[in-house]
Order: sequence, then C-alpha cells, then structure tokens
Amino acid sequence: MDWGMRNRLARIISPKTNRCVMLAVDHGYFQGPTTGLEHPGETVAPLLPYADALMLTRGVLRNTIDGGAQVPIVLRVSGGTSVLKDDLSDEDLTVSIEDAIRLNASCLALSIFVGSPHEKKSLTNLSKLCDKGQKYGIPVLAVTAVGRDMVRDERYLGLACRIAAELGAQIVKTYYCDGFEKVVDGCPVPVVIAGGKKVEEREALRLAYSAVSDGAVGVDMGRNIFQSRWPVQMIQAVRRIVQEGKSDQQAWEELEGMIG
Ligand code: 5RP
Repeated sequence: MDWGMRNRLARIISPKTNRCVMLAVDHGYFQGPTTGLEHPGETVAPLLPYADALMLTRGVLRNTIDGGAQVPIVLRVSGGTSVLKDDLSDEDLTVSIEDAIRLNASCLALSIFVGSPHEKKSLTNLSKLCDKGQKYGIPVLAVTAVGRDMVRDERYLGLACRIAAELGAQIVKTYYCDGFEKVVDGCPVPVVIAGGKKVEEREALRLAYSAVSDGAVGVDMGRNIFQSRWPVQMIQAVRRIVQEGKSDQQAWEELEGMIG
C-alpha cells in the first residue's frame, strides 16, 4: 500500500490500538436537519476531543467546522436522494476528488446498496471512487446501507461487506448482527459499525463492546452519541470501550458516575 494511503489510514485507525472511534454526523445528506444536528457545528465542537475521525458532508464541514480542527475528516461523497423518496439507493458521486483533496479529506465515504434497485450503480460508483482514491492515496470507506426490504443479518451484511472490500474499499461500515464475527472474518479490510437508531445509553455501550469483541476495529457512531442527553460523557464512554479495552459494564459505571 502506498505511503500516503497508509498514513491517512493511520490517522483514522490508531496504529497503537488498531481501533477507531469515528463520529458520524453526515445524516443530513438525505434526512435534512436530523434531531441533534440542527446546528452541527455546535453539536460537534465539544465531542471533537474524543473523536479519532469525523464523518460528514462538505457543506457541513465548510460552513460549521473550525478550519483549525485537528480531527481527520471522513468525507461523505455519495448522495443525491432524500427521505421523501421510497428508494434511497439511487446515489451518485457528489464530490470531485479535487474538492476532497482541497478539504484535506483523510478518507472518502460512499454508500453501497447491495440487493437494491440501484445495486449495480452504487457498486460501480464504489469502484470508480476507489480508482480515484488509489490515484491520490486516499482510502475509501464503504457504507453498507440497508434498504427497507433487506434483513440486517449475517448473510446479507457478510455479502455486502465482502463485495465492498473486493471492489477496493479500505474500510467497511456495517451494522452489528448475530454472527457478526463471521461478517468480520469474511471481510479482508477493517470493519466499523454504525450505531443505528437511538437506544438507551446502556444498550449502545453493549453494542460497541460486542462489536469490538467480535472483531470490529471500532465504531462510526452518530445518533447514540449526539442524541444522548449526555453526548460528551457518552462519547467518552464509547472511547473507553473501543480505545481503552474496558467492558461495557465498566464504561457504563463510569458514565453513571459522571452524570450523577
Ligand atoms: C448513513 C450513515 C450514517 O453515518 C450512519 O448510519 C451512522 O450513524 P448512526 O450511528 O446514527 O447510525 O452512514 O448512511
């Protein structure tokens, strides 16, 4: 692997721990002003000291994030759909490689929709993006988005993750499921999990712990952090699990201690 590619990956996944706490705040790219992200800059600022990387769109980056921020950027470069349409799979590439470089992106993120009406388009989008990333030494994170009719099980997620890696993604983002260790085992590149819908803090910590115990390199978590009543304490608790090897119970007890 080229030095630039390795260096950018090392900015996201710590070479010391081989782990990563990525904060996802890209939800607005098809959902608009998602709860907790009405003013993304204000939401993100207190969380940045605890994030190894920040996943977002160029619009939110340019308009709301301080240019002096030290956090590596995972730039969402796919889109073109909205929640008003039934089929979210009809995405295109939405950012040129030149603009991604101008924004100093450490990684490019794109969704794939295996099994959906636009499966082929999303997969060839991924291939084209990987070609561009290879040319400039920028890794690609493939998000295995799940259509409404698809089941988030080991068979489906294992298939989607493996295809993403086969087409050239350097990191894959997916969902936790029963048999998750097999999903990781069948995927030759690092896997991070999305947090999914907001659940109780205790449950979200259990999810993070299960994912890393079963082989994920970490999380790319959004709503379970920024929609928490205690977002700063929550990202710290997730960090204790992912980067410090604590159990979900230890992290929960420390969280309880902080929120009183
Ligand atoms: C949407 C995304 C989001 O970043 C994502 O799903 C992660 O956030 P959450 O933890 O809220 O699920 O990639 O396609």
